[in-house]
Amino acid sequence: MITYLEDARQFQINTPHSTYALAVVDGKYLCHVYYGKRLEPQNLTDLLRLDHPPFVPSKNERETASFMDCAPFEYPVGNTGDYREAAFGIETAEGYSVCALCYVSHRIYNGKYNSRILPHTWGNGAETLEITLENVQLGLTAILSYTIFEGLDAIIRSARFELNADHPAKNLTVTRALSASLDMDDSRFEMISLYGSWARERQAERLPVRHGKQRIDSLRGESSHQYSPFFALVRPETTEDSGDAYGFTLIYSGNFLAQAEVTQFCQTRVQIGVHPDDFAWLLDYEGGTFETPEAVLVYSENGIGEMSRTFHRLFSDHLIRSKWRYCDRPVLLNNWEATYFDFTLDRLKEIADEAAALGIELFVLDDGWFGHRDSDNSSLGDWFPDQRKLPGGLKPLTDRLSALGMQFGLWFEPEMVSPDSDFYRAHPDFIVETPERCRTQSRAQYVLNMARGDVQRAVYDQIKAILDSAPISYIKWDMNRQLTEVPCKGFAHRYMLGVYSLMERLVSEYPDLLLETCSGGGARFDAGMLYYSPQIWASDNTDAKERLRIQYGASLFMPPSAIGAHVSVCPNHALGRNTPFETRANVAMNGTFGYELDVTRLPDAEKAQIPEQIRRYKEIAPLIRDGALWRLGDPFAPSGFAAQMQADYDAWIYVASDKKTAVFTYVQITAEANMKPRRIMLRGLSPETQYAFTRNGKAYCYSGAYLMQCGILIENLWGDMKSEQIMFRAV
Ligand code: DGJ
Repeated sequence: MITYLEDARQFQINTPHSTYALAVVDGKYLCHVYYGKRLEPQNLTDLLRLDHPPFVPSKNERETASFMDCAPFEYPVGNTGDYREAAFGIETAEGYSVCALCYVSHRIYNGKYNSRILPHTWGNGAETLEITLENVQLGLTAILSYTIFEGLDAIIRSARFELNADHPAKNLTVTRALSASLDMDDSRFEMISLYGSWARERQAERLPVRHGKQRIDSLRGESSHQYSPFFALVRPETTEDSGDAYGFTLIYSGNFLAQAEVTQFCQTRVQIGVHPDDFAWLLDYEGGTFETPEAVLVYSENGIGEMSRTFHRLFSDHLIRSKWRYCDRPVLLNNWEATYFDFTLDRLKEIADEAAALGIELFVLDDGWFGHRDSDNSSLGDWFPDQRKLPGGLKPLTDRLSALGMQFGLWFEPEMVSPDSDFYRAHPDFIVETPERCRTQSRAQYVLNMARGDVQRAVYDQIKAILDSAPISYIKWDMNRQLTEVPCKGFAHRYMLGVYSLMERLVSEYPDLLLETCSGGGARFDAGMLYYSPQIWASDNTDAKERLRIQYGASLFMPPSAIGAHVSVCPNHALGRNTPFETRANVAMNGTFGYELDVTRLPDAEKAQIPEQIRRYKEIAPLIRDGALWRLGDPFAPSGFAAQMQADYDAWIYVASDKKTAVFTYVQITAEANMKPRRIMLRGLSPETQYAFTRNGKAYCYSGAYLMQCGILIENLWGDMKSEQIMFRAV
């Protein structure tokens, strides 16, 4: 519910458990009043502290600058006395940058504004507050938008800008336009963010905020392996299940900035948006507009777990569009770690025959099927089957798969081109470059200029020809290098809009396609991608132990049903570790679940487990997709002497929305000698319900209250990385 309190000139956005309030001060400044646990609509403007020095109001002209530098602005601009980081900046044709934005009007309505060029939340039950700000001298209008969806403690923020057509000036350049800025009144926060690298994505880090700016960002042209466009601010006492947690993410896949700035008065300015460092957008008076990506703000009074569950629900119900979001997805086998580039049609058929016999439903042919690609040195851009490896094209393979009752999926890297390719030789001008500068290669490839419509069309025509030539039900859309030599500021955003436009065309012309996006592992694991693909490959690291961390980090803000996760062979290809086959499967089940190995070479004892694993996954897949995730362990907790019995295990439970079924998984990371069984308190169950379950062939029945208050005992599982999965059913 969104209310406007006329006397206080205050807006109050109430979700089931949170309140977000802002107010118009002195008839023009839009200021932030409150964000936190829900309050019934009431005048909260005391919280602005306008009477407290140094919050001296602007009525006293003498002290305007000190007011500007500490008032909690809802969408701060620079160069007017507010020396904290601005959300918005411009440059006029003359090179001036002063641009105050003052309140003009507002409207509250059912529904929301939906961008035609950016991924965005959608769906029923939305209510929106739009506040119009203006700079009269420049003829510039800004609309700040706040949307809530029924039943969710989340606020979707974005901003749109346009110039008034009848204004005499010619144009201006937007140099910065963040999606959200939020001035909190104190700084007693810790910041949780996700750092990483290739094969080490989404490592969670929690550190106190301190004076100055703590920022994570990407200027790589993708949301990146290095930082995810997500962070949370939590109180020092906040845990998984209690305390304040504020989560922030961006529905965007390109360059971003996310930061918390603690000021001289111990306030915290929180910001998230398109990275301003390489951004510029020309607005002209002929209808030029700019709209920011949507930022998502989530508040939870019950800890980090509830914050994550709100993100999961919001993204599942109001962001993912694919018909696959509520459907069982096929269990797949991907040939990448099985063969890499080195395969023949016969080899693929052998693998497919064995996979089908074990119950695998979708065969995915990864990199290396096109042009003359025997390594990553060639052929990107030549999207036609390599006749040496696939004589007769894809048909002999797809015929065999059809006979086996298997579906077929194919890998593409649409945004890239190899210098050694017919496509590049025909279109050397299609790449991202700055004229007369060096063309930096990475993985021996260039990036295609997706900001150009003709480039998009040329790529799309090739993909379409392949899609129309064979029964392809799944595509893996990869992106294996970052941008360099971008020609100008703002280009990276135009590039991203081009990628989105191409993906939009693909998913609207092939609505049944299951699209999995990917970027050299998990470098584009962000909410922007979810609008097009219901699942995203999370990392090239498939080691079960490393995956505990990667998937934990991912689950902080992304739905587990989107986390691409596969079982692979040991020693693991990324780091040489051995883990039990069963645990590899239990960990991959905390995601999309599939296999990425050569089933024909798997030891019999492991192969024999596959049909049962698939049966179990089929049973629990609806829980992982639609149920609530409660994290019960922390794979980042310290181990060793100082943390006995607190660390070195991970556990989680998915509970169905009707609480009638739940699946619990426990992983003993390191075994300990001579230790009592570990007690794990379950969460999310119905206290009054009796739950039946089987362990080691023995049947048990306990109430939800018992399982949550007294827990379940886990014996020493005898060995590192041993695991157990238990299915609970209400009786
Ligand atoms: C990177 C992906 O993450 C891998 O799964 C695989 O598809 C390779 N690219 C292929 O080049």
